[in-house]
Formats: sequence, C-alpha cells, structure tokens
Amino acid sequence: MSMLNGFSPADAERLSQQERALIERRERLLGPAYRLFYERPLHTVRGEGVWLYDEQGRRYLDAYNNVASVGHCHPRVVEAICTQAAQLNTHTRYLQQGILDYAEQLLATFPAGLERVMFTCTGSEANDLALRIARHFTGGEGVIITQFAYHGVTGDISALSPSLGAGVRLPAHARCVRAPDAYRLGTQNVAAAFAADVRAAIDDLRARGIKPAALLLDGIFASDGVFAEPCGFLAEGVALARAEGLLYIADEVQSGFARTGENMWGFQRHTVQPDIVTLGKPMGNGQPIAGVVARADLIESFGRSVRYFNTFGGNPVSCAAAKAVLEVIQEEGLQQRSAQIGDYLLQGFRRLAEHHELIGDVRGAGMFFGIELVSNRETKAPAAQATRRIVNDLREHGVLISAAGPLENILKIRPLLAFEKEHADLMLDALNQVLNANKPSHTTPVL
Ligand SMILES: Cc1ncc(COP(=O)(O)O)c(C=O)c1O
Repeated sequence: MSMLNGFSPADAERLSQQERALIERRERLLGPAYRLFYERPLHTVRGEGVWLYDEQGRRYLDAYNNVASVGHCHPRVVEAICTQAAQLNTHTRYLQQGILDYAEQLLATFPAGLERVMFTCTGSEANDLALRIARHFTGGEGVIITQFAYHGVTGDISALSPSLGAGVRLPAHARCVRAPDAYRLGTQNVAAAFAADVRAAIDDLRARGIKPAALLLDGIFASDGVFAEPCGFLAEGVALARAEGLLYIADEVQSGFARTGENMWGFQRHTVQPDIVTLGKPMGNGQPIAGVVARADLIESFGRSVRYFNTFGGNPVSCAAAKAVLEVIQEEGLQQRSAQIGDYLLQGFRRLAEHHELIGDVRGAGMFFGIELVSNRETKAPAAQATRRIVNDLREHGVLISAAGPLENILKIRPLLAFEKEHADLMLDALNQVLNANKPSHTTPVL
C-alpha cells in the first residue's frame, strides 16, 4: 500500500531522543515491514471521541480513522466489551445467544438475498473466505480487481492487492481493470470504460483457459484514489460479470457501516446486488471483528463440504462490541450525520478548490473524500510532493489525514462518523491554512 506520507529514517534527526529511541526499538523488535505515518511519527497514548492525544497531551483531530468510526473509546462500546469480557469469552463451538442477536441485527441492514453471515477477525480473512466461497461455488479460479486495489494481507489476497507495491506479483489468475476514475476518464465514460474492461478481462482469462470466479471491488475504491461518482457507474460492469457466471464480491471493509452517508453499504450507491459482501474495520470500533455476508445458497454449498472454525472469529466479546457499534450508528443517527456533515465538508473542500489551483478534483461520498492535487489543471500533472507536504503540515496543525492513489497525489480524508460541524470547520480551516502556506507565492489567506 502506498506510504507516501510515511516516515523515512532520513527524517530522524528532526525527532527527539526519546522518539528516536522508540523507533530504533521498534525496528529492532518488529523488523522493517512495518511503516509509520508522517515525517514526524505520532506517539499516541489516548483517544476520546474525535480526538487522539500524544504523550505530551497535545490533541489531534482524527480525520483519517475508519476503525474507531463511532468515536475513540466510545463509552457504550467500551462498556459492552468490559461487561462481556467479565462474563465469558469463548468461541463459536458453544451455543451462544450474543452472536445470533448480532447476526440478526446486522443482516437486517442488508437488502433481501443476502441472508447469511460468517465471522472472521480481519478484513483480509473475510476477503480470503469470500474468495474460497466464490471459487467453491463457481468452480473457477480467475479474479478481476482494480489496478491499484488493496484487499488485505493473506497469501491469496495480498496477491490481489497491487497497491502493496512492486514486491507483489500479480498471479496468472488475476486481471486488473481501470478504477472508475471520472476525473481522468471523464464522467460520461466511466461506466462504459469499466464495463469494457471487465469484458476484456473475462475474455482474456478464458482465452488462457482460466475460468473466472469473481469480480472483487472495494465499494469506494479507497486505494485507487476514492471514486464515488457518478452513482451507478458499477451497474453495467457488474451485470455483465454476473451474467457471465462470476460472483460479485463487494469489499465493504472501507465503505461499509454508514461511511458513504446516504446508504449503510457503499455498493448501494450503484444499485447493484452483490453475491458476497465482506466487512471489517469499523465493525467493532477497534475490537477485531470482520465478516462475510452472502447469499444463502453460496454459504450452504460451501458449508456442506468445508468445515469452518475461526478461533477468535465471532467471539462473544467481539460480537458484543459489534452490536454496540451498530446500535450507536442507528441510535445516534450517524448515517444521517455522515451524509450531512459529509456534504458540508464536500462543499467546503469545493470552495477551497475555487481558491487553490493545486486542487484538481474534489470527490467523495458521506465521510470519505479524495482531494486530487495537480501542478497543472490542464494537464492534470500529479503533485505528489505537495501532497506529502500537505499531509505532514496538517499533522503539525493537529489534523490527521493521509494520502492515496497510484500517482501519490490524492489527499485521503476519512473523518470519524462522530464529527460535528465544529470539527468539520476546524478541518476546513486547517486545510486552508496549509494550502495557503504551500502556495508557490504566498497570498492573503482566504475562506
Ligand atoms: C478495502 C479493504 N479491504 C480489506 C482490507 C483488509 O482489512 P484488514 O486490515 O482488517 O485485514 C483493507 C484494509 O485496509 C481494505 O482497505
């Protein structure tokens, strides 16, 4: 996955002795595969609502957290975890009521036809299981993904995550299609281009004797650069794939649980019906729980021939956390808030684009935004260096975001669903200041 706002050892001299010691210890104990965010990594010690606190007590507005979505340490979720942990924590080989209560509540949020749920601990495991189910049902092997997709870390799934970098080689059974990038492909072309790419991928797999099994798509195309508009752009390509016998796996690890505002699930923007949906990240607000929701016939055919046991998947504490998260989303009206505050932020970002040439495109849905930075609006030349600066300068201003996209030039902004208008204003003001400070020639601040 792109780590363009990642810490580099070359930046170490700017750090305190204590920070350097922590980084060295981390490197020594955990090895080099782990990455830290920001040129000046953040040492977080506490979270509360929309805020993260560092070891000096400085607070940071969290506009990048798609896990603690309902708010850091939300009291209701904390209480659910503590109460259940004090009572019992076992696994799914005993009869338990909590998992069933949650399964009922969760399945009620899906359209008809998606009637079973299986639990895992991570989104990667959910995608891995979804792929196994799809392959079992179709008898196929081939998978279609987008060019800069990220779907997780298991062996099979990391191979289907080209955004992990050159170290990941695409397997023979994978085909990439262009992400539905309305900014670069043109709004009116995006649906047809996507469908044409899916057609070509299916034909190419078959030409090489590989039976296609699944079309696996992130509902908001987060690592590809955040693409949400125009609504419905997936419909043609998905219909085509399903008509050809592929199963459509909607990866909702990023776009699920009210993140996209108007709908509970990201795929609903595109009026498409998935065969399998995978869930994760915000599901337990930090407690590891993820899952696969699918058509009953798929789960039944898989389950009849393959036994499934995941030691920690769907354990009582995780289910209690997930149940509390769903109830908080519903009772605190977080889906409506995601739509309202999301729209307020989107309009605010668009106003900033009127004053800052650097902004080539502003897009998103609900509380998920991509702001594409370009050094030339005509040629759309990517402004990767500026993107890195803005992300790091915002961190110094106390606002946390990150960056994404194959050209490393898209600000990726995912505020907590718990954001209020005052937090949105803080975010907009900080971004405006940072953009002003990064203008080629300094001008009077605008807003
Ligand atoms: C779209 C998508 N799918 C799957 C995953 C994997 O989830 P996890 O890290 O819980 O394994 C991620 C994680 O970033 C993701 O963004």
